[in-house]
Amino acid sequence: MTVSALPRINVVGLGKLGAPLAAVLASRGFSVIGLDVNRTFVDALNAGKMPIIEPQLNELIAANRERLSATMDANEAVQKSDASFVIVPTPSNKDTGFFSNSYVLQAMATLGKALRAKKGYHLVVITSTVMPGSTEGEIKQALEAAAGRTVGPDLGLCYNPEFIALGSVVRDMLYPDSILVGQADQKAGDMLETIYRQMCVKNPPVQRMNLVSAELTKISVNTYVTTKISYANMLADICDRLPGADVDAVTKALGADTRIGGKYLKGAMGYGGPCFPRDNVAFAALARKIGARADVAEATDRINNHQIERLSSLVAKFAKAGTRIALLGLSYKPQTPVVEESHSVKLAAKLADAGYIVSVHDPLAQDAAIGVLGDKVVSASSLEGAVRECDLLIVATGWPEYKEVDPAWCKRNGQRLTVLDLWRTLPADKFADVADVLYLGSGR
Ligand SMILES: NC(=O)c1ccc[n+]([C@@H]2O[C@H](COP(=O)([O-])OP(=O)(O)OC[C@H]3O[C@@H](n4cnc5c(N)ncnc54)[C@H](O)[C@@H]3O)[C@@H](O)[C@H]2O)c1
Repeated sequence: MTVSALPRINVVGLGKLGAPLAAVLASRGFSVIGLDVNRTFVDALNAGKMPIIEPQLNELIAANRERLSATMDANEAVQKSDASFVIVPTPSNKDTGFFSNSYVLQAMATLGKALRAKKGYHLVVITSTVMPGSTEGEIKQALEAAAGRTVGPDLGLCYNPEFIALGSVVRDMLYPDSILVGQADQKAGDMLETIYRQMCVKNPPVQRMNLVSAELTKISVNTYVTTKISYANMLADICDRLPGADVDAVTKALGADTRIGGKYLKGAMGYGGPCFPRDNVAFAALARKIGARADVAEATDRINNHQIERLSSLVAKFAKAGTRIALLGLSYKPQTPVVEESHSVKLAAKLADAGYIVSVHDPLAQDAAIGVLGDKVVSASSLEGAVRECDLLIVATGWPEYKEVDPAWCKRNGQRLTVLDLWRTLPADKFADVADVLYLGSGR
């Protein structure tokens, strides 16, 4: 397909996922218009630089500005595009565990109204994570009511979630393992597959199915991955109590079995972030609602919630309340400033509440974490200062920067500093003279 024949794309919602999608599509030759209700994001994209911290995002925007623009006007966005990707928030309801479609429904109302003034085919793609049954149900209904036409030959509808991790969104979009296309009909699915064949650098397999199967697949993937994480943490807990057992040796051997695989199989901390915890809870809530059992998802959640207790009990074995602890790493994973559901932040709060003096550091997430923790903790002014002034060091998020912690900072007048290196980030051998670097579940 020549670049001029490519469908023009409207990305609705220019947030952590929408802005990278717009940039990636533009970098692969598509003409892209972004639509958002937030003027700051619209102005920022038009100025060529988004206030979102994500590797490669702003470089990609800067290099592809001639194919990228943004607007708050839905009519303009719809007129200048052939397909609209909707990536607006779907917040979780704390009581039910279900995702709310309220923002998606608002977007359907706006897009549908704009579509009344547009002739010809337009494809609407729901990329936000939604509860199974939503797209075929209230989302389609809202779109059809607002557009004054039904989904079919003139109006396409697909469900197409992204499988990305914050901190590597651009790379994950360019090189996905596979693409998931939930389609209302063949025509809509064909158009979406064509877009991905152009967007992805390699030719990933495209899994096509109906809307509800795709919705279930999305949350099933995250539920399965969280199960692996909790499984590894369960093993770490067992190894901590089984003299001589080493969780890294066990998970390495497990992961070598191709039926299992090594990814996300490391005994360390619990999972956090904006997706994993809530997707798992939503999956279990769905199963309960329809009378199915979700014992695995429920156990995964329970094990995850137990990790903070497990880690704080471990700290209590080495240090009394009043001890100065430096906790390095606050984001829920490296390469992102996001602290939503971060176990590092939860651990810092738990230790502070237990009476420890906790100083915290993070290359990107320090301000966001202090916003959550307030004056419970001390915000470290430098990495070196935090390490030099503590009696116990915890490396809680495995930022590569922490490999550079200088063993000289750990010298304590002949005393040995205890270091809990939760992700095995530090080069332990370099610390042999000054610190006892301990791993969870290492039997050490
Ligand atoms: N962030 C992730 O890691 C991730 C991963 C997979 C899936 N998701 C899903 O993607 C969706 C979006 O997540 P996000 O992290 O990008 O959210 P976000 O909050 O970072 O961005 C959402 C954007 O949508 C805009 N918006 C809200 N209502 C709008 C409307 N009616 N019209 C136009 N714009 C509107 C907001 O102003 C904001 O810029 C959610 O459903 C989320 O579950 C997120």
